Amino acid sequence: NIGKTGNELGFNMFVVGGFVRDLLLSRQIDDIDIVVEGDGIEFAKTYAKKEGCRINTYKKFGTAVIIYPDNFKIDVASARLEYYKTPAALPIVEKSSIKLDLARRDFTINTLAISLNPDNFGTMIDYFGANRDLKDKTIRTIHNLSFVEDPTRIFRAIKFSNRFGFKIGKVTSNLIKNAITIDCFKNLSGLRVLSELKQIFEEENPIPAIKTMESYGLEKVLHKDLTLIPNTYQLLESVNKILSWHDLLYMDEPYPRWAVYFMAMLNRCSYKVCEQICTRLNVPLRERGILLEKRYKAEKQLNLIESSSTYTKQELYWTLINFKTEYILYMMALVKDEEIKKAISNFYTHQRGIKPYIKGRDLLKLGLQPGPVFSAIIKQVLNAKLDGQLKTRKEEIQFAA
Ligand code: CTP
Repeated sequence: NIGKTGNELGFNMFVVGGFVRDLLLSRQIDDIDIVVEGDGIEFAKTYAKKEGCRINTYKKFGTAVIIYPDNFKIDVASARLEYYKTPAALPIVEKSSIKLDLARRDFTINTLAISLNPDNFGTMIDYFGANRDLKDKTIRTIHNLSFVEDPTRIFRAIKFSNRFGFKIGKVTSNLIKNAITIDCFKNLSGLRVLSELKQIFEEENPIPAIKTMESYGLEKVLHKDLTLIPNTYQLLESVNKILSWHDLLYMDEPYPRWAVYFMAMLNRCSYKVCEQICTRLNVPLRERGILLEKRYKAEKQLNLIESSSTYTKQELYWTLINFKTEYILYMMALVKDEEIKKAISNFYTHQRGIKPYIKGRDLLKLGLQPGPVFSAIIKQVLNAKLDGQLKTRKEEIQFAA
Protein backbone atom coordinates (compact mmCIF):
# COMPACT_ATOMS: atom_id res chain seq x y z
CA ASN A 1 0.00 0.00 0.00
CA ILE A 2 2.96 2.32 0.55
CA GLY A 3 3.99 1.87 -3.07
CA LYS A 4 0.41 2.27 -4.34
CA THR A 5 -0.05 5.54 -2.44
CA GLY A 6 3.33 6.68 -3.79
CA ASN A 7 2.17 5.91 -7.34
CA GLU A 8 -1.04 7.90 -6.85
CA LEU A 9 1.02 10.90 -5.77
CA GLY A 10 3.64 10.41 -8.49
CA PHE A 11 6.45 9.63 -6.01
CA ASN A 12 9.04 6.86 -6.10
CA MET A 13 9.05 5.04 -2.78
CA PHE A 14 11.89 3.09 -1.18
CA VAL A 15 12.49 1.22 2.02
CA VAL A 16 16.11 1.93 2.96
CA GLY A 17 19.02 1.56 5.35
CA GLY A 18 18.95 -0.59 8.48
CA PHE A 19 15.71 -2.31 7.46
CA VAL A 20 17.21 -3.73 4.25
CA ARG A 21 20.54 -4.51 5.93
CA ASP A 22 18.84 -6.41 8.76
CA LEU A 23 16.55 -8.18 6.31
CA LEU A 24 19.55 -9.52 4.39
CA LEU A 25 21.32 -10.47 7.61
CA SER A 26 18.14 -12.21 8.85
CA ARG A 27 18.13 -10.11 11.98
CA GLN A 28 15.20 -8.80 13.95
CA ILE A 29 13.84 -5.63 12.37
CA ASP A 30 12.93 -2.77 14.69
CA ASP A 31 12.47 0.25 12.44
CA ILE A 32 11.15 0.86 8.96
CA ASP A 33 12.69 3.80 7.16
CA ILE A 34 11.04 5.00 3.97
CA VAL A 35 12.55 7.49 1.57
CA VAL A 36 10.19 9.27 -0.81
CA GLU A 37 11.43 10.81 -4.01
CA GLY A 38 9.08 13.74 -3.57
CA ASP A 39 7.26 15.23 -0.60
CA GLY A 40 7.48 12.80 2.33
CA ILE A 41 5.04 14.80 4.44
CA GLU A 42 2.40 14.82 1.73
CA PHE A 43 2.85 11.07 1.36
CA ALA A 44 2.60 10.51 5.14
CA LYS A 45 -0.62 12.58 5.36
CA THR A 46 -2.27 10.72 2.47
CA TYR A 47 -1.17 7.30 3.62
CA ALA A 48 -2.15 7.86 7.27
CA LYS A 49 -5.63 9.02 6.25
CA LYS A 50 -6.17 5.87 4.18
CA GLU A 51 -4.78 3.46 6.77
CA GLY A 52 -6.20 5.08 9.91
CA CYS A 53 -2.78 6.01 11.35
CA ARG A 54 -1.61 9.05 13.25
CA ILE A 55 1.36 11.12 12.07
CA ASN A 56 3.94 13.48 13.49
CA THR A 57 5.50 15.79 10.94
CA TYR A 58 8.72 17.78 11.00
CA LYS A 59 8.37 20.40 8.26
CA LYS A 60 11.88 21.76 8.64
CA PHE A 61 13.40 18.38 7.78
CA GLY A 62 10.68 17.16 5.41
CA THR A 63 10.24 14.09 7.61
CA ALA A 64 7.30 12.39 9.26
CA VAL A 65 6.54 9.45 11.51
CA ILE A 66 3.50 7.31 10.73
CA ILE A 67 2.09 5.70 13.85
CA TYR A 68 -0.27 2.73 13.54
CA PRO A 69 -3.00 2.16 16.15
CA ASP A 70 -0.86 -0.58 17.75
CA ASN A 71 2.03 1.95 17.98
CA PHE A 72 4.07 0.41 15.14
CA LYS A 73 6.03 3.22 13.50
CA ILE A 74 7.35 4.03 10.06
CA ASP A 75 9.84 6.85 9.55
CA VAL A 76 9.43 8.82 6.36
CA ALA A 77 12.05 11.11 4.81
CA SER A 78 11.95 13.19 1.66
CA ALA A 79 14.63 12.89 -0.97
CA ARG A 80 13.70 15.92 -2.94
CA LEU A 81 14.07 15.75 -6.66
CA GLU A 82 17.13 17.73 -7.57
CA TYR A 83 17.41 19.50 -10.88
CA TYR A 84 20.73 20.19 -12.56
CA LYS A 85 21.13 22.79 -15.22
CA THR A 86 23.22 21.41 -18.06
CA PRO A 87 25.32 23.72 -20.28
CA ALA A 88 23.83 25.78 -23.07
CA ALA A 89 20.28 25.14 -24.14
CA LEU A 90 20.04 21.54 -23.10
CA PRO A 91 17.06 20.69 -20.91
CA ILE A 92 17.17 20.58 -17.10
CA VAL A 93 18.11 17.13 -15.90
CA GLU A 94 16.36 15.44 -13.04
CA LYS A 95 18.82 13.48 -10.95
CA SER A 96 17.84 10.34 -9.11
CA SER A 97 17.73 11.75 -5.62
CA ILE A 98 17.55 8.41 -3.83
CA LYS A 99 21.17 8.00 -4.88
CA LEU A 100 22.08 11.35 -3.30
CA ASP A 101 20.20 10.42 -0.16
CA LEU A 102 22.04 7.10 0.11
CA ALA A 103 25.40 8.71 -0.70
CA ARG A 104 25.09 10.83 2.44
CA ARG A 105 24.97 7.78 4.69
CA ASP A 106 27.70 6.43 6.91
CA PHE A 107 28.62 2.93 5.74
CA THR A 108 28.05 0.95 2.57
CA ILE A 109 26.02 -1.66 4.47
CA ASN A 110 23.46 1.06 5.27
CA THR A 111 23.01 2.20 1.67
CA LEU A 112 20.67 -0.45 0.32
CA ALA A 113 17.20 0.48 -0.89
CA ILE A 114 14.26 -1.59 -2.09
CA SER A 115 11.73 -0.07 -4.43
CA LEU A 116 8.10 -0.20 -3.26
CA ASN A 117 6.19 1.13 -6.29
CA PRO A 118 4.04 -1.60 -7.89
CA ASP A 119 5.89 -1.52 -11.25
CA ASN A 120 9.24 -2.45 -9.77
CA PHE A 121 8.23 -3.66 -6.34
CA GLY A 122 11.06 -5.46 -4.57
CA THR A 123 13.88 -4.31 -6.85
CA MET A 124 17.00 -3.83 -4.80
CA ILE A 125 19.19 -0.82 -5.41
CA ASP A 126 22.85 -1.11 -4.49
CA TYR A 127 24.93 1.88 -5.65
CA PHE A 128 27.82 1.54 -3.22
CA GLY A 129 28.76 -2.14 -2.95
CA ALA A 130 26.62 -2.92 0.08
CA ASN A 131 25.94 -6.50 -0.99
CA ARG A 132 29.66 -7.11 -1.48
CA ASP A 133 30.45 -5.74 1.99
CA LEU A 134 27.66 -7.70 3.65
CA LYS A 135 29.12 -10.81 2.05
CA ASP A 136 32.69 -9.83 3.05
CA LYS A 137 31.44 -8.96 6.57
CA THR A 138 33.14 -5.59 6.36
CA ILE A 139 32.30 -2.09 7.56
CA ARG A 140 33.35 0.47 4.94
CA THR A 141 32.64 4.15 4.54
CA ILE A 142 31.38 5.55 1.26
CA HIS A 143 33.84 8.41 1.11
CA ASN A 144 37.08 9.51 2.79
CA LEU A 145 35.68 12.45 4.75
CA SER A 146 32.92 10.47 6.43
CA PHE A 147 34.44 10.55 9.94
CA VAL A 148 35.65 14.12 9.68
CA GLU A 149 32.14 15.20 8.67
CA ASP A 150 30.58 13.27 11.51
CA PRO A 151 32.96 11.79 14.12
CA THR A 152 30.11 9.94 15.89
CA ARG A 153 30.36 7.53 12.97
CA ILE A 154 33.57 6.20 14.56
CA PHE A 155 31.46 4.84 17.43
CA ARG A 156 28.85 3.62 14.95
CA ALA A 157 31.49 1.70 12.97
CA ILE A 158 32.55 -0.04 16.19
CA LYS A 159 28.92 -0.68 17.19
CA PHE A 160 28.05 -2.33 13.88
CA SER A 161 31.31 -4.26 13.73
CA ASN A 162 30.59 -5.67 17.21
CA ARG A 163 26.89 -6.32 16.58
CA PHE A 164 27.35 -8.21 13.32
CA GLY A 165 30.81 -9.67 13.96
CA PHE A 166 32.12 -7.67 10.96
CA LYS A 167 35.65 -6.36 10.57
CA ILE A 168 36.34 -2.70 9.93
CA GLY A 169 37.92 -2.38 6.47
CA LYS A 170 41.58 -1.39 6.34
CA VAL A 171 41.02 1.95 4.60
CA THR A 172 38.09 2.73 6.91
CA SER A 173 40.20 1.82 9.94
CA ASN A 174 42.94 4.18 8.75
CA LEU A 175 40.35 6.92 8.23
CA ILE A 176 39.26 6.42 11.85
CA LYS A 177 42.88 6.71 13.04
CA ASN A 178 43.44 9.84 10.95
CA ALA A 179 40.25 11.48 12.19
CA ILE A 180 41.28 10.79 15.79
CA THR A 181 44.79 12.14 15.12
CA ILE A 182 43.38 15.43 13.87
CA ASP A 183 41.27 15.66 17.04
CA CYS A 184 37.94 15.37 15.26
CA PHE A 185 36.06 15.22 18.58
CA LYS A 186 37.20 18.67 19.63
CA ASN A 187 34.05 20.43 18.46
CA LEU A 188 31.63 17.57 18.89
CA SER A 189 28.92 17.97 21.51
CA GLY A 190 29.38 15.69 24.50
CA LEU A 191 25.74 14.63 24.31
CA ARG A 192 26.25 13.10 20.88
CA VAL A 193 29.23 11.08 22.13
CA LEU A 194 27.16 10.04 25.16
CA SER A 195 24.31 8.92 22.93
CA GLU A 196 26.66 6.73 20.85
CA LEU A 197 28.28 5.28 23.96
CA LYS A 198 24.89 4.43 25.41
CA GLN A 199 23.96 2.63 22.20
CA ILE A 200 27.14 0.57 22.41
CA PHE A 201 26.50 -0.24 26.08
CA GLU A 202 22.95 -1.31 25.21
CA GLU A 203 24.21 -3.98 22.79
CA GLU A 204 23.96 -7.61 23.92
CA ASN A 205 27.68 -7.83 24.70
CA PRO A 206 29.48 -4.48 24.42
CA ILE A 207 32.83 -5.75 25.72
CA PRO A 208 34.47 -6.47 22.33
CA ALA A 209 33.34 -3.00 21.24
CA ILE A 210 34.90 -1.46 24.35
CA LYS A 211 38.15 -3.29 23.50
CA THR A 212 38.00 -1.95 19.94
CA MET A 213 37.35 1.56 21.27
CA GLU A 214 40.43 1.18 23.45
CA SER A 215 42.49 -0.08 20.51
CA TYR A 216 41.80 3.26 18.80
CA GLY A 217 42.48 5.15 22.04
CA LEU A 218 38.89 6.40 22.20
CA GLU A 219 38.73 6.20 26.01
CA LYS A 220 41.01 9.26 25.94
CA VAL A 221 38.20 11.17 24.19
CA LEU A 222 36.29 10.82 27.46
CA HIS A 223 39.29 11.73 29.63
CA LYS A 224 43.03 11.77 29.16
CA ASP A 225 43.45 9.88 32.46
CA LEU A 226 40.89 7.17 31.74
CA THR A 227 42.70 3.84 31.45
CA LEU A 228 41.04 0.48 31.11
CA ILE A 229 43.05 -2.01 33.14
CA PRO A 230 42.56 -5.81 33.24
CA ASN A 231 40.46 -5.39 36.42
CA THR A 232 38.08 -3.12 34.53
CA TYR A 233 37.58 -5.81 31.90
CA GLN A 234 37.06 -8.46 34.60
CA LEU A 235 34.36 -6.28 36.11
CA LEU A 236 32.78 -5.67 32.70
CA GLU A 237 32.72 -9.45 32.09
CA SER A 238 31.09 -9.93 35.42
CA VAL A 239 28.49 -7.22 34.59
CA ASN A 240 27.81 -9.02 31.30
CA LYS A 241 27.13 -12.31 33.13
CA ILE A 242 24.86 -10.69 35.72
CA LEU A 243 22.87 -8.75 33.10
CA SER A 244 22.39 -11.89 30.99
CA TRP A 245 21.11 -13.70 34.09
CA HIS A 246 18.81 -10.79 34.94
CA ASP A 247 17.45 -10.24 31.44
CA LEU A 248 16.62 -13.91 31.04
CA LEU A 249 14.54 -13.89 34.23
CA TYR A 250 13.07 -10.40 34.07
CA MET A 251 12.69 -9.67 30.38
CA ASP A 252 9.90 -7.15 30.85
CA GLU A 253 11.43 -5.15 33.69
CA PRO A 254 13.29 -2.34 31.94
CA TYR A 255 16.31 -0.63 33.52
CA PRO A 256 19.19 1.39 32.05
CA ARG A 257 21.49 -1.44 30.93
CA TRP A 258 23.97 1.07 29.57
CA ALA A 259 24.40 2.57 33.04
CA VAL A 260 25.64 -0.68 34.59
CA TYR A 261 28.43 -1.00 31.98
CA PHE A 262 29.25 2.66 32.31
CA MET A 263 29.46 2.40 36.11
CA ALA A 264 31.82 -0.56 35.71
CA MET A 265 33.98 1.34 33.24
CA LEU A 266 34.30 4.24 35.69
CA ASN A 267 34.84 2.01 38.72
CA ARG A 268 38.58 2.63 38.98
CA CYS A 269 38.43 6.38 38.30
CA SER A 270 38.64 9.02 40.97
CA TYR A 271 35.51 11.05 41.73
CA LYS A 272 37.13 14.07 40.10
CA VAL A 273 37.86 12.24 36.83
CA CYS A 274 34.29 10.85 36.76
CA GLU A 275 32.95 14.34 37.31
CA GLN A 276 35.06 15.67 34.44
CA ILE A 277 33.90 12.84 32.18
CA CYS A 278 30.26 13.69 33.01
CA THR A 279 30.96 17.33 32.20
CA ARG A 280 32.72 16.45 28.93
CA LEU A 281 29.76 14.30 27.88
CA ASN A 282 27.12 16.82 29.06
CA VAL A 283 25.56 13.99 31.05
CA PRO A 284 22.09 15.17 32.13
CA LEU A 285 21.62 15.76 35.85
CA ARG A 286 19.62 12.61 36.62
CA GLU A 287 22.09 10.38 34.80
CA ARG A 288 24.99 12.20 36.44
CA GLY A 289 23.42 11.08 39.71
CA ILE A 290 23.58 7.46 38.53
CA LEU A 291 27.22 7.64 37.45
CA LEU A 292 28.44 9.71 40.39
CA GLU A 293 26.64 10.04 43.73
CA LYS A 294 24.42 6.97 43.65
CA ARG A 295 27.15 4.73 42.29
CA TYR A 296 29.47 5.79 45.10
CA LYS A 297 26.68 5.16 47.61
CA ALA A 298 26.17 1.65 46.18
CA GLU A 299 29.92 0.96 46.35
CA LYS A 300 30.11 2.25 49.92
CA GLN A 301 27.17 0.14 51.05
CA LEU A 302 28.67 -2.92 49.44
CA ASN A 303 31.95 -2.28 51.28
CA LEU A 304 30.05 -2.04 54.55
CA ILE A 305 28.22 -5.29 53.87
CA GLU A 306 31.41 -7.08 52.86
CA SER A 307 33.42 -5.85 55.81
CA SER A 308 30.79 -6.74 58.39
CA SER A 309 30.41 -10.33 59.54
CA THR A 310 27.13 -9.65 61.28
CA TYR A 311 24.92 -8.38 58.49
CA THR A 312 21.50 -9.98 58.97
CA LYS A 313 18.97 -10.86 56.28
CA GLN A 314 16.79 -8.00 57.49
CA GLU A 315 19.61 -5.47 57.49
CA LEU A 316 20.50 -6.48 53.95
CA TYR A 317 16.87 -6.03 52.92
CA TRP A 318 16.59 -2.53 54.43
CA THR A 319 19.85 -1.52 52.77
CA LEU A 320 19.14 -2.89 49.30
CA ILE A 321 15.51 -1.81 49.13
CA ASN A 322 16.81 1.75 48.66
CA PHE A 323 18.63 0.84 45.43
CA LYS A 324 17.14 0.46 41.98
CA THR A 325 17.81 -2.52 39.73
CA GLU A 326 20.86 -1.01 38.01
CA TYR A 327 22.70 -0.57 41.32
CA ILE A 328 21.75 -4.03 42.64
CA LEU A 329 23.12 -5.57 39.43
CA TYR A 330 26.24 -3.43 39.67
CA MET A 331 26.77 -4.55 43.26
CA MET A 332 26.30 -8.20 42.25
CA ALA A 333 28.98 -7.76 39.60
CA LEU A 334 31.33 -6.07 42.08
CA VAL A 335 30.90 -8.30 45.12
CA LYS A 336 33.72 -10.73 45.85
CA ASP A 337 32.18 -12.88 48.57
CA GLU A 338 30.03 -15.63 46.99
CA GLU A 339 27.74 -15.87 50.04
CA ILE A 340 26.96 -12.15 49.89
CA LYS A 341 26.40 -12.41 46.16
CA LYS A 342 23.84 -15.16 46.82
CA ALA A 343 22.19 -13.05 49.51
CA ILE A 344 21.89 -10.06 47.15
CA SER A 345 20.52 -12.31 44.42
CA ASN A 346 18.03 -13.74 46.95
CA PHE A 347 17.01 -10.19 47.84
CA TYR A 348 16.39 -9.43 44.18
CA THR A 349 14.56 -12.62 43.25
CA HIS A 350 12.54 -13.10 46.46
CA GLN A 351 12.75 -10.61 49.28
CA ARG A 352 12.07 -7.41 47.38
CA GLY A 353 8.65 -8.82 46.40
CA ILE A 354 7.64 -9.63 49.98
CA LYS A 355 4.92 -7.31 51.24
CA PRO A 356 2.91 -7.58 54.46
CA TYR A 357 -0.76 -8.51 54.00
CA ILE A 358 -1.83 -6.18 56.77
CA LYS A 359 -2.46 -2.52 56.13
CA GLY A 360 -3.11 0.54 58.28
CA ARG A 361 -6.84 -0.24 58.44
CA ASP A 362 -6.09 -3.61 60.08
CA LEU A 363 -4.15 -1.75 62.76
CA LEU A 364 -7.07 0.69 63.20
CA LYS A 365 -9.34 -2.31 63.73
CA LEU A 366 -6.98 -3.44 66.48
CA GLY A 367 -7.75 -0.14 68.20
CA LEU A 368 -4.34 1.44 67.59
CA GLN A 369 -4.00 5.19 67.11
CA PRO A 370 -2.59 6.19 63.71
CA GLY A 371 0.90 7.70 63.74
CA PRO A 372 4.55 6.74 63.35
CA VAL A 373 3.82 3.60 65.35
CA PHE A 374 1.95 2.23 62.32
CA SER A 375 5.00 2.17 60.08
CA ALA A 376 7.10 0.81 62.95
CA ILE A 377 4.66 -2.10 63.38
CA ILE A 378 4.47 -2.77 59.65
CA LYS A 379 8.25 -2.77 59.52
CA GLN A 380 8.39 -5.31 62.34
CA VAL A 381 5.81 -7.48 60.58
CA LEU A 382 7.91 -7.33 57.42
CA ASN A 383 11.06 -8.25 59.37
CA ALA A 384 9.29 -11.26 60.85
CA LYS A 385 8.07 -12.23 57.37
CA LEU A 386 11.60 -11.95 55.96
CA ASP A 387 12.67 -14.24 58.77
CA GLY A 388 10.05 -16.76 57.71
CA GLN A 389 8.13 -16.43 60.99
CA LEU A 390 4.86 -15.21 59.47
CA LYS A 391 3.04 -16.89 56.64
CA THR A 392 -0.63 -15.92 56.75
CA ARG A 393 -2.56 -12.70 57.20
CA LYS A 394 -4.01 -14.08 60.45
CA GLU A 395 -0.51 -14.66 61.81
CA GLU A 396 0.44 -11.11 60.87
CA ILE A 397 -2.59 -9.66 62.72
CA GLN A 398 -1.81 -11.74 65.79
CA PHE A 399 1.82 -10.61 65.62
CA ALA A 400 0.81 -6.94 65.31
CA ALA A 401 -1.63 -7.24 68.20
N1 CTP B 1 23.37 7.74 9.63
C1 CTP B 1 24.53 8.35 9.20
N2 CTP B 1 25.36 8.96 10.10
C2 CTP B 1 25.04 8.98 11.42
C3 CTP B 1 23.86 8.37 11.87
C4 CTP B 1 23.03 7.75 10.94
O1 CTP B 1 24.82 8.31 8.01
N3 CTP B 1 25.86 9.57 12.29
C5 CTP B 1 22.49 7.08 8.62
C6 CTP B 1 22.78 5.58 8.54
O2 CTP B 1 23.18 5.27 7.25
C7 CTP B 1 21.49 4.89 8.88
C8 CTP B 1 20.44 6.01 8.91
O3 CTP B 1 21.14 7.24 8.98
O4 CTP B 1 21.13 3.91 7.95
C9 CTP B 1 19.50 5.87 10.10
O5 CTP B 1 20.22 5.93 11.33
P1 CTP B 1 19.95 4.92 12.52
O6 CTP B 1 18.49 4.76 12.72
O7 CTP B 1 20.79 5.31 13.68
O8 CTP B 1 20.61 3.62 11.87
P2 CTP B 1 20.29 2.11 11.94
O9 CTP B 1 21.14 1.54 10.87
O10 CTP B 1 18.84 1.82 11.89
O11 CTP B 1 20.93 1.72 13.34
P3 CTP B 1 20.34 0.83 14.50
O12 CTP B 1 20.15 -0.53 13.89
O13 CTP B 1 21.40 0.87 15.57
O14 CTP B 1 19.04 1.49 14.91
